[in-house]
Amino acid sequence: MKALWYERKGPAAAVLTHGDVPDPEPGPGEVRVEVHVSGINPTDTKARGGWGGNVEMPFARVIPHQDGSGVIDRAGAGVPPSRVGERVWIYEAQLGRAFGTAAEHVCVPSENAVRLPDGASFETGACLGVPAMTAHRCLFQDGGIQGQTVLVAGGGGAVGHAAILLAKWAGARVVTSVSRAEQEQSARDAGADLVVNRKTEDVAARIKDFTRGAGVDRVVEVSFEANLDLNRAVLKPNGVISTYASGTPDSTPRFPFSPVMRQGLTMHFVLVYVMPREAHWAAAREVNAALDAGCYRPRVARVFRLDEAVAAHEAQESGKTVGKILIAVQPSVPVAP
Ligand SMILES: NC(=O)c1ccc[n+]([C@@H]2O[C@H](COP(=O)([O-])OP(=O)(O)OC[C@H]3O[C@@H](n4cnc5c(N)ncnc54)[C@H](OP(=O)(O)O)[C@@H]3O)[C@@H](O)[C@H]2O)c1
Repeated sequence: MKALWYERKGPAAAVLTHGDVPDPEPGPGEVRVEVHVSGINPTDTKARGGWGGNVEMPFARVIPHQDGSGVIDRAGAGVPPSRVGERVWIYEAQLGRAFGTAAEHVCVPSENAVRLPDGASFETGACLGVPAMTAHRCLFQDGGIQGQTVLVAGGGGAVGHAAILLAKWAGARVVTSVSRAEQEQSARDAGADLVVNRKTEDVAARIKDFTRGAGVDRVVEVSFEANLDLNRAVLKPNGVISTYASGTPDSTPRFPFSPVMRQGLTMHFVLVYVMPREAHWAAAREVNAALDAGCYRPRVARVFRLDEAVAAHEAQESGKTVGKILIAVQPSVPVAP
């Protein structure tokens, strides 16, 4: 099969290779998926690039990418054969495993291949995994958000966009921060009720004005250290910050204990890979419910071909794109510049 791989870490152009590798066979409890679209996340480019000094190869050869979509074409022992032919989206394909979705076939545990609702395209399916599950955990770890106000920091990002979509689906009011016009449009398209430019506007003042001084119930945070003061300023008493990133790998946030305690704040530090299994299942179920309801419409920045993977990784790393970077693995998937 055709695949993309690396055998040492480094810049995309230096280490990514594509070519032919043997087809994988599903083990017990696994399914094999004919991959249609592979989704790229920062986790994939960071792993390939050796982010934070993590330069050791976990396996001699890695086929990258956690997320993807396609059709199950083989079922391993113990998996109902009726799953063969099912359209699926894939999460955490490469978690603790050498081979991810940047290939014509991938084998994953059966539960990591989730039914893709009929109305959802393979492109949509490849946008779900990491962003949707992270956003779901950040939003719902403390229960439902119907009628609440949620601040989504960085609503132009992939997880931020997913958080806006899921929060709106769940009946929350959403305020979000962006830094440029294309991100603003993306956040508005996702349904954000207030979009504030964090570079040119007073975010706290705009949020306080919008909420008539009440503030927000929860924050979904992409830059924990940078936005901690802002979040403390706009959160209601007993509010929740759920954060999934904090800038640099050595970020060491400091905050004053007593004032934070007096606010009664809850802080969650979310890593999608260590979410409990049940939280993964709940996320998969509710993301599919949002898809079924027509409320989950991920934004795609660009679809590349497998042999353009270097450019795809570089686009992901540029920080300039708004929307998901995907790779069309099957020729039937149209590429879009
Ligand atoms: N813990 C987890 O499980 C988990 C899961 C998914 C992702 N992540 C991490 O989370 C980060 C974002 O992932 P992603 O896929 O959403 O990336 P992305 O699509 O590149 O989006 C990142 C967004 O964050 C915004 N941003 C950066 N600094 C900000 C700040 N101080 N305030 C508000 N917004 C800010 C960026 O906006 P600008 O263009 O204005 O900078 C951009 O829109 C990455 O570091 C990724 O590795 C962690």
